[in-house]
Amino acid sequence: MLMLLLVWITKVRGQTKFFNVMKYGAVPDGKTDNRVLRASTDPSSLNTDHWISFRHVDGLTLTGGGSFDGQDSPNTDEIHIGRSSDIQIFDSTIAIEDDYISMSHRSKNINITKVHCGPGHGISIGSLGKLPNEEPVLGITARNCTFSGTSNGVRIKTWAPSASPSIVSNITFQDIIMDNVYNPIIIDQQYCPLHNCAKKAASRVQISDVKFRNIRGTSSSKVAVNLQCSSSVPCEKIELMDINLAYKGSDGPVDSSCSHVSGVSYGEQMPPSCI
Ligand SMILES: *[C@@H]1O[C@H](CO)[C@@H](O)[C@H](O)[C@H]1NC(C)=O
Ligand SMILES: *[C@@H]1O[C@H](CO)[C@@H](O)[C@H](O)[C@H]1NC(C)=O
Ligand SMILES: *[C@@H]1O[C@H](CO)[C@@H](O)[C@H](O)[C@H]1NC(C)=O
Repeated sequence: MLMLLLVWITKVRGQTKFFNVMKYGAVPDGKTDNRVLRASTDPSSLNTDHWISFRHVDGLTLTGGGSFDGQDSPNTDEIHIGRSSDIQIFDSTIAIEDDYISMSHRSKNINITKVHCGPGHGISIGSLGKLPNEEPVLGITARNCTFSGTSNGVRIKTWAPSASPSIVSNITFQDIIMDNVYNPIIIDQQYCPLHNCAKKAASRVQISDVKFRNIRGTSSSKVAVNLQCSSSVPCEKIELMDINLAYKGSDGPVDSSCSHVSGVSYGEQMPPSCI
């Protein structure tokens, strides 16, 4: 897929500027390689760990009916947010091998609405706690999103052991449809993909005030709700409201699993709540 017409609107010192990519050489004929916005298949040509980045900007709007084609580079996050606040992402469709949207430290007031994901991973807060001096992640909302055939749905992950204490708070995942998702709802505070991690060490990232509301659909694994929090700083004020996730595998019925979690659950609870 190539983007056909993508207009960048950016506010520079209060003035709105439009950038029409056709003026920068994009040709919408369905044949021309418009590498305006299609990544090279050779990652070494980038010289960096990212393809398109926005830094030190204020008041940027990126809009239009186009697409970014990363030519599905492995182990890539589609949209990675860090050290940023007041961001809205809406009406987007994402298919990628790694996290669709990941939010790392010092992400604040992020609003994700009507995003469709699949196949690939999911929406992730984290991973956090890998680096020293990480700052809190506060005020993230994801609403009216759908996930199809993904390995994760909504996830918070923190490293164990963690290099520094930190905070994740005021997070809402609401009105979400899961279609055949392996881990629809997951908090993983034992994230450690490296071989030599000390599995016994606990994460020092405190997770609190996380709401999972009106999350429905199907899980492709038995444990549809999996909340594995830190033994040293347990999760607090976790809310499960109106959860209805079905699992059809022979090792059913659908289940939930919690460690070191306190909070409330109400409304429909399928699987039965472990809080
Ligand atoms: C999030 O974005 C959606 C879509 O633009 C908007 O309707 C909603 O009011 C926003 N919510 C917040 C909390 O900003
Ligand atoms: C929680 O985050 C939302 C944005 O997602 C923000 O509008 C709200 O003010 C925050 N609440 C608190 C108590 O900080
Ligand atoms: C979000 O989902 C809720 C529940 O399904 C629905 O009532 C609401 O209209 C949806 N909002 C948008 C903006 O699609």
